[in-house]
Amino acid sequence: MAKIYYDADIALDTLKNLTFGIIGYGNQGRAQALNLRDSGLPVRIGARKNGEAFLRAANDGFAPESIESVTANCDVLVLLLPDEHVPSVYSAQIEPHLNADKVFVFAHGFSVHHKTIRLPEYSDLLLVAPTGPGRQLRSLFQEGKGLPALVAVEQDVSGLAWQRCLAYAGAIGCTRAGVVKTTFAEETVTDLFCEQAVLCGGVPALIQASFNTLVQAGYQPELAYISCLKEVKLIADLLFEHGIDGMRKSISSTAQYGSAITGPELVDGRTKNNLEGALKRIESGAFAKQFLAEAAIGAPTIKALLQSENNSRMARIGRELSEKLMF
Ligand SMILES: NC(=O)c1ccc[n+]([C@@H]2O[C@H](COP(=O)([O-])OP(=O)(O)OC[C@H]3O[C@@H](n4cnc5c(N)ncnc54)[C@H](OP(=O)(O)O)[C@@H]3O)[C@@H](O)[C@H]2O)c1
Repeated sequence: MAKIYYDADIALDTLKNLTFGIIGYGNQGRAQALNLRDSGLPVRIGARKNGEAFLRAANDGFAPESIESVTANCDVLVLLLPDEHVPSVYSAQIEPHLNADKVFVFAHGFSVHHKTIRLPEYSDLLLVAPTGPGRQLRSLFQEGKGLPALVAVEQDVSGLAWQRCLAYAGAIGCTRAGVVKTTFAEETVTDLFCEQAVLCGGVPALIQASFNTLVQAGYQPELAYISCLKEVKLIADLLFEHGIDGMRKSISSTAQYGSAITGPELVDGRTKNNLEGALKRIESGAFAKQFLAEAAIGAPTIKALLQSENNSRMARIGRELSEKLMF
């Protein structure tokens, strides 16, 4: 059984006398900064001047400053920038200003596991990866609850790294729900694999292909949209609450039989080989290299995907339906 920690396992005192520098005030940065501040910890925000993040942090009552200044003046540096921008920001604005022992905190293991930056040997390296978006991390915290997280330590120079890691997870609310011990490598690989294979790659591709199949066969696109896309939420909620076996108990026997014969036809030996191929691409570091190269030339693959999806018939039907049906 994985090791799981809760509020009872942490001591917030471990973070006493430390100042927290949040670098990047986006999805995670904003939520983590506000939760840390509400936990009574001193927080400073590093953002680029005139960027959206800078204005948002000022509106939230912080006094945002340059990334260089936050780096020089904070004990704990929480790097919450998009993974592809971490190398350039780190080498230009962080690395030259590392003037004392620093603790680094990450919300995803990508930069450390794939060594996209050269971190100091004298720093503790902590991972606190919330299992959901920043706004959920924030709203649950405000309700007195928490979002589970994955926690890991890559480098423990102070001897306090684990205590600090768990205390940080507590300060942003995650140990209220439970945090699971992992490693930077495991978190990075599993997170990338699941977003590609299931959440953001596999599921949308299957929805799109199923929608196209129905429409090409002459069925109304509105019906295809509702059944292939909108109803995913109902099943996702059942899966979330009860797992695959529990979901099966809540569906009709027609759906149970249909899924028993069609599911294995779709996810056959070829699909399994493709999944293994995707996993190997991630494990070998080839995916990370490919992704950073894509970012360096202006992300053409991502732009093309967003544009084609935005212009697709499916997206048009979705926009029209959202004005007519109250889901
Ligand atoms: N999204 C999630 O829910 C989630 C969940 C778990 C873990 N994570 C991890 O959390 C980390 C942060 O992800 P995120 O989704 O929070 O990022 P995000 O919302 O895209 O945040 C981007 C932030 O980075 C700043 N930024 C981007 N490029 C910059 C540059 N060149 N110089 C200075 N600032 C720059 C942006 O500032 P401007 O406004 O100035 O552009 C903004 O504040 C990643 O490692 C991600 O994998 C994310």
